Amino acid sequence: MILNTLRLQFRFLLPLVLTLVAAAYLALPLMDKLTLRWSSRDLSLRGELVTRALTEPIAEALPEPMRQRTARLQALFNRAVQDERLFAMALCGSDDTIVHKSGTYPADLGCAQARSLSAQTLAQLSLASGAVHVGMHPVVVDGERVANLVLLHDLSFVERRSQDTQKYLIAFMAGLGLVISVITVVVAQLSWRGWVSGARALLRGEGLLSPLISTRGELAPLAADFRERLRDLEDSYRRSLDRDDHWGPERLRALLRSQLRGDELMVVSNREPYIHEQRGDGVVCKRPASGLVTAVEPVMRACSGTWIAHGGGSADRSVVDAHDRVMVPPGSNDYTLRRLWLNAEEEQGYYSGFSNEGLWPLCHVAHVRPVFRESDWVAYRAVNERFADAVVAEARSADPVVLVQDYHLALLPALIRQRLPRATILTFWHIPWPNPESFGICPWREELLQGLLGSTIVGFHTRYHCKNFMETVDRHLEARIEHEHSTITVNKQTTLIESYPISIAWPDEQERQRWPVIAHCRDAVRRRLGMSAGHKLAVGVDRFDYTKGILERLHAVERLLEKYPQWVGQFSLIQVAAPSRSTLDEYQAFQQRIHQTTERLNTRFGRPGYLPVHLLAEHHEFEAVNELYRASEICLVTSLHDGMNLVCKEFVAARDDEQGVLVLSRFAGAAAELNEALIINPYHVEEGADTLHRALTMPEAEQRERMGNLRTTVRDDNVYRWAGRMLTDAARWRLRERIEARMQRHNGA
Ligand code: G6P
Repeated sequence: MILNTLRLQFRFLLPLVLTLVAAAYLALPLMDKLTLRWSSRDLSLRGELVTRALTEPIAEALPEPMRQRTARLQALFNRAVQDERLFAMALCGSDDTIVHKSGTYPADLGCAQARSLSAQTLAQLSLASGAVHVGMHPVVVDGERVANLVLLHDLSFVERRSQDTQKYLIAFMAGLGLVISVITVVVAQLSWRGWVSGARALLRGEGLLSPLISTRGELAPLAADFRERLRDLEDSYRRSLDRDDHWGPERLRALLRSQLRGDELMVVSNREPYIHEQRGDGVVCKRPASGLVTAVEPVMRACSGTWIAHGGGSADRSVVDAHDRVMVPPGSNDYTLRRLWLNAEEEQGYYSGFSNEGLWPLCHVAHVRPVFRESDWVAYRAVNERFADAVVAEARSADPVVLVQDYHLALLPALIRQRLPRATILTFWHIPWPNPESFGICPWREELLQGLLGSTIVGFHTRYHCKNFMETVDRHLEARIEHEHSTITVNKQTTLIESYPISIAWPDEQERQRWPVIAHCRDAVRRRLGMSAGHKLAVGVDRFDYTKGILERLHAVERLLEKYPQWVGQFSLIQVAAPSRSTLDEYQAFQQRIHQTTERLNTRFGRPGYLPVHLLAEHHEFEAVNELYRASEICLVTSLHDGMNLVCKEFVAARDDEQGVLVLSRFAGAAAELNEALIINPYHVEEGADTLHRALTMPEAEQRERMGNLRTTVRDDNVYRWAGRMLTDAARWRLRERIEARMQRHNGA
């Protein structure tokens, strides 16, 4: 193993060492030059020293008669050239003639030539015996130059020095190369392996130092966060890829035709998109107040197919055919609504009990205790079975695409899977998914999770809810979870867990043309409520539900009027509260409390002709709500917890004048997308009041800027994109399954 690794490293090591040695060779001429220069300077200095030492004897010898002078100089020079490095020397007179020279001094080197050579940088002269360094140094006596001493130094030592330097340099470079390459390879090996295994471990959901620290160690939150960030990045990348393309009904239809071979689409939900009600002798058709319906209905209109839902309207039975089907929307008949009938016990146990007293508070952090009754669970299971039978009855092929909606039908995906194993089941959970501890309260948690994991894809509004779901499965089921791919496998069934932020259908030009102009809406609403033209309005549009933060909203209005009394008489809140689940105790108590608080506020701040709060606790059709959106200065969305909340997106779509301020709870899924809203914590009453004041005094230019950006976001990320993304993922999944099936057949053959 070690040998193998070393052999592998050799491939990196050898080139590095060779490169360094080659570099050393290339640097040699330069090194030679440097050594020579350095030696030359050395020799010049040495020459000056020698000259200083000889100055006195020379000065004494010069005035002597010729013979004595020659003898003294000869003796002096002979002694001097005994130095192994001093090769020869000569004394030049002030007239540049040689006064005396040593025996080894070259015959043809005159004083003038010696001077010019000595002035050069390297001051070198080549002789038959080898190269010498030439230096001419003045002999100064009493401040006066009396002669020049020419000294020729042997340069052979420089050559030796240079050769030695070369040897050392090459050896040094080779050694250095070896050391650097070994260190580099070791560090690279360690860090690469560390990073790769660390990153893999993180993506697997293990600790950074998985071999050393247990997978649930202190680094687990960091790893989870890291995974989340990766998924977020991937999400924004995916979104950015198709951002340029406009998503509309046409494109969705084309997708269905091309990628899903025109397969029939089926939607299953508890709430039906159209409710037929008996009014006197006639029948009226209503659209329910449901975010689910608001979002999914335009998708069905675009794609057609069959929508299976509970028929809860008083005239629902009277309009269906023999197979309990009716074509909707009335007038355009784009798709089939297949109604499923529930008796009173079923509705009580499955809808009111398990769904709305159990799962609804369980999934929302709204401080209402969930209630789980055995009898409700039995009814829930039974009704889910009945929906599964209806899906089989309505399916025209063995592999339909079924869109299962929301918490009423958590068991349905697995039940469909048992009956139609090749179905593509896309389940969308419209409400938040709680953390594993909270979900653990439910006595039938495993069954619910197994039911959902019968889906091909389980979708949530946000990555955070996906993460909660995966952690919940991890906590409560034996499952293989692959965080890299965001999949969960249980009993060989793999489910993709993905976030698909839901939205609304952006109104087209034709629809907008039908809307009354803003000024008309403003006048109409104010006139109806007996307000003056300049009266400022905030609107809230909700189901009458304790998760919507209606009480907190009233408290914020109360504080606004206390803290900023200039708004008393000048500002009102219009609260539309669509009746909802009113048979349940929690809802009745809540609705009563809202009525009481409204009354208290109106008594405290109201005066003849002025009510600070108008509570409209009745069903409003879209046109009426849209008029309020267009008439108001502010839209207040203060949910205590909300999967997405589509009211805020509808308000944005309604404001084609690019005016109006959206005040949005940070606990609504939409807060992650609608950054230009004024984001608040609805529990913080003071913040709510200050934000209302800020919204009421916001300059038009700022409103336009914020609203303009909000409109771009909602227009681009519309519900067709939501459905398109889910169906595209489903199509990919189907393709993969088909290929796998083909390969299995091929391998088996
Ligand atoms: C929420 C749920 C929907 C439901 C809607 C109205 O938005 O996610 O599934 O349809 O509330 O509630 P209701 O009980 O009237 O259907």
